[in-house]
Amino acid sequence: MANTIVIFGASGDLTSRKLIPALYRLFQKNRLPEGSLIVGVSRSNFEHQQWRDSLRTSVEEFANDCFDNETWARFADTLYYLPGDIKNADDFESLAEFLDTIEPEHHSGRLYYLSTMPQLYEEAIKQLGAAGLNNDETGFRRVIIEKPFGTDLKSARALNASIHGVFREDQIYRIDHYLGKETVQNIFALRFANLIFEPIWNRRYVDHVQITVAEEVVIGRRAGYYDTAGILRDMFQNHLLQLMMITAMEPPARYDAAMVRDEKVKVLHSIRRMTGGDFASDTVRGQYKGYLKEEGVPANSDTETYAVLKLYCDNWRWKGVPFYLRSGKGMSCRTTQIVVQFKNVPHILFGEKTREPVGNRLVMQVQPAEGIQLHFETKVPDSEMKTRTSTLDFSFSNTPGGKSLPDSYQRLLLDALTGDASLFARSDEVELAWGIIDPILAAWRSPAAPPLYEYETGLWGPPESTQWMYKQDREWFDVCPVL
Ligand code: BG6
Repeated sequence: MANTIVIFGASGDLTSRKLIPALYRLFQKNRLPEGSLIVGVSRSNFEHQQWRDSLRTSVEEFANDCFDNETWARFADTLYYLPGDIKNADDFESLAEFLDTIEPEHHSGRLYYLSTMPQLYEEAIKQLGAAGLNNDETGFRRVIIEKPFGTDLKSARALNASIHGVFREDQIYRIDHYLGKETVQNIFALRFANLIFEPIWNRRYVDHVQITVAEEVVIGRRAGYYDTAGILRDMFQNHLLQLMMITAMEPPARYDAAMVRDEKVKVLHSIRRMTGGDFASDTVRGQYKGYLKEEGVPANSDTETYAVLKLYCDNWRWKGVPFYLRSGKGMSCRTTQIVVQFKNVPHILFGEKTREPVGNRLVMQVQPAEGIQLHFETKVPDSEMKTRTSTLDFSFSNTPGGKSLPDSYQRLLLDALTGDASLFARSDEVELAWGIIDPILAAWRSPAAPPLYEYETGLWGPPESTQWMYKQDREWFDVCPVL
């Protein structure tokens, strides 16, 4: 059934770089329901045709591998633009009327995408409610909300409360674009469509887990946002905790939104909250050299651009197994990877005179070299039982359809349209995640904060972080993927 996607913040960067190119790709693949319409709303004064023309340029750029004039012409016919100010109730009345004019009878649902500044979310929701645009008697009414979802537990709760005044939880789709990544969904497949990993996916066999989201880029022109957010809010409360939840969760009874999210939420419940000395012993903070010189950054800013958290899940599966969550800007390369480091063999038969075997390691490469590697010991040929580490290497790019994986927004937009919320964050999930991050943020802003280490860009963060790992008899897996 046809539906309408209304994008608030239609003249913004996200709309032109991600949303419209993703919708164009879906349209080209015939995945959008027949007759779907897209309506852009923002304060700029465009005519429909002007908006279409400006989007054509972005689609040519951001979907250049599949752009063609004929598809574009048909897609452009589905695009409409309406100038509107989120603060102006009349504009929402006009939107309601406009939608009634363009939507054919028996048009089914509406998906509202809030791609605006986060400060406007509450207002936008309130206005949608006041104009009756949340009324789902004649078809679904859903709302997609971009991150950041609040800036701490208090603001996230307040935001949830005000949204719940207008939309039911099952109408709300909170985006974490990491969940839209094929390789993140592949963790579900790896864990729950195979038998061989499950028996060893626990404290008896796993020594620790490293979850790294390293970015080569620095903050660029985002100081206004970044300096008040910092890396814990920007990356940990959402993306890194999501990766941890999927790695650590129990198998759900069914792959559906309620059950998947119930299991993820259980992981958050089991994460031990840091207190007292934990903030000094179990976290590392860093800031890249040159951060203070970035345009718009206050000269005395102590905002972190690198962080490590050592978290524990206090449950039967994971008790005592550290999960190291690490992220940084200005790192050696762009790589997101989850390393499951298994324990060593209990008794060493080979290699005493040469080297100890290292434990097996499973590396899930989330991006950019999407794949999985299993590291294991093999005999060095023509040696007396010497061993060395070898790798079984699976790469998506060598498999049918794996050359260019669809980006997150295609998957997530489609899921929101079809009403599958499995890959979206639920209200309790968001609040629990803030409950884990908030005390760390507070401790880092207190006089007892652990030191903020400086680091050179282009490496793997502060050397102190490497030392900190050595002290625990462990080593970071600092390997840039081969592209
Ligand atoms: C965003 C953060 O959510 O994720 C950015 O705000 C970060 O700071 C980005 O660069 C990383 O996303 P990806 O998909 O490029 O790994």
